[in-house]
Amino acid sequence: MWGIVNEKVSVASKYGATSLTMIDVTPLSEHFLQDFRDRMTSLNIANYHCISQDITQIKLAEIGEPYDVVQCAGVLYHHPHPLQILVALRQITREHLIFTSAITQEVIENEWGRYEIPASGVMFIPALDDAERAILTAYWRPYINSNQLIGITEKAVFDMDNFAACWWLPTASALESMCKVAGFKVLDKGLTWDNNALTLLLGV
Ligand SMILES: C[S@@+](CC[C@H](N)C(=O)[O-])C[C@H]1O[C@@H](n2cnc3c(N)ncnc32)[C@H](O)[C@@H]1O
Repeated sequence: MWGIVNEKVSVASKYGATSLTMIDVTPLSEHFLQDFRDRMTSLNIANYHCISQDITQIKLAEIGEPYDVVQCAGVLYHHPHPLQILVALRQITREHLIFTSAITQEVIENEWGRYEIPASGVMFIPALDDAERAILTAYWRPYINSNQLIGITEKAVFDMDNFAACWWLPTASALESMCKVAGFKVLDKGLTWDNNALTLLLGV
């Protein structure tokens, strides 16, 4: 929903979804959820539900049946337990999950030095030292403009319910393996955002 105009609920509606649900940990009272509702109203979409919850805490009994299609972007790296995000998404997906996450390059080299991680690696952001953070900050700065990648472009306090910070950045290869381990089949995939994000079409 980042920026609201890029939300996918109206896209699903346009292409024939008969019921629609938006899930985000943000409290329903927050202004950007009101912006989302205003956008739905402006598009004449009324048959949608909003659930304000940590996705890893969703119980299937609460939503009834799994959803035919689930789309999730930009969440995995914000959670201290990224595999639990995939386990939760597997639980609520009946057919397809369209899944996007930021990833890390395996080699990042700039005026601050060289950062390297093997294809099998997942970067644990709380463990970065100042020299590594400087290399990564210089790399990410052009992609995030004035926004912050909390934990990389600035130091973060990593308590376990901090979902604003970035906790992990997998390589493309590690992310794909994580999805497979969580019970998905990779049907298609594509890199976006100058190879800084990977989208996977996953089947259960
Ligand atoms: C970087 S934004 C991505 C927003 C949007 N999905 C997009 O791709 O533009 C991260 C979003 O994930 C939500 N979020 C973070 N942790 C979450 C969690 N544990 N459960 C549900 N939503 C979460 C945040 O509230 C925020 O709206």
